[in-house]
Amino acid sequence: MTAPAVQPPESSIAVDKAKPCIVTRDLSAYFGDTAAVRNVSITIPQQAVTAIIGPSGCGKSTLLRCLNRMHETVPGARVEGSVEILGSAIYGDGTNPIAVRRHVGMVFQRPTPFPTMSIRANVAAGLRIAAKKGEISGSTDEIVEEALRRAGLWEEVKDRLSESATAISGGQQQRLCIARALATRPRVILLDEPTASLDPLSTQKVEELVYDLRKTVTVVIVTHNMQQAARISDCTAFLLAGELIEFDSTRELFTAPKDSQTEAYVTGRFG
Ligand SMILES: Nc1ncnc2c1ncn2[C@@H]1O[C@H](COP(=O)(O)OP(=O)(O)OP(=O)(O)O)[C@@H](O)[C@H]1O
Ligand SMILES: [Mg+2]
Repeated sequence: MTAPAVQPPESSIAVDKAKPCIVTRDLSAYFGDTAAVRNVSITIPQQAVTAIIGPSGCGKSTLLRCLNRMHETVPGARVEGSVEILGSAIYGDGTNPIAVRRHVGMVFQRPTPFPTMSIRANVAAGLRIAAKKGEISGSTDEIVEEALRRAGLWEEVKDRLSESATAISGGQQQRLCIARALATRPRVILLDEPTASLDPLSTQKVEELVYDLRKTVTVVIVTHNMQQAARISDCTAFLLAGELIEFDSTRELFTAPKDSQTEAYVTGRFG
């Protein structure tokens, strides 16, 4: 085959199928009558970074949004099939979508800090409901500091926590959004092209952060950028027209893809 466009990192780890975090079975997602995701069955390992790649419009964001029940917030949208996260059926009867979203945090393509709130208030924003239920221990200040440290932002903002969240750079705002998602101590964090609007240095910081986060949380990241998938992910899923074409360790998928369509995509012949 043609040489791969990118080389996976030395540190790619083998897929640990014994420790699944997210298991989807025959998952389909519709907008009205049109299926944007079709019969996807995938087992995403715990405490690893899994990348979702594929050409524009193939259903990457839609698949991601099925993993924390965001898809159904679009009028006329619905999901078929099942998703289990750490053994719980997130579409099961009586499951509260808000509770699901607290355990499965999400960060989008453009930074979305609450513009009228301070840096500190942004990180604390998701905490109030959870704290009321006594689910998260520690004072708000401690939790805010922990989340900012985990997002690699503490040193840069610790003396300006009361300033507006819009007073920091775009890259810092994106790490702030990651801190906000981490504050409720989710088990999973979903990132939809989190570096698409960032400059190369800010992108590198977010990539380093994602790479580190997998020590404590399961990360699923959608990316257009195959080099990024190869640099930071342990496993990669390749989607085409809503279908899962191949899922494997990142090293295997990029160096020895089993499907000819995956091979064409990772060698840059389309997409
Ligand atoms: N709100 C919506 N209403 C109707 N159709 C939608 C909606 N959002 C997405 N779609 C359609 O669903 C399909 C999958 O879209 P999705 O956004 O998941 O793709 P993607 O792989 O994330 O693309 P991109 O790389 O451009 O972000 C596309 O055909 C898209 O047009
Ligand atoms: Mg998308």
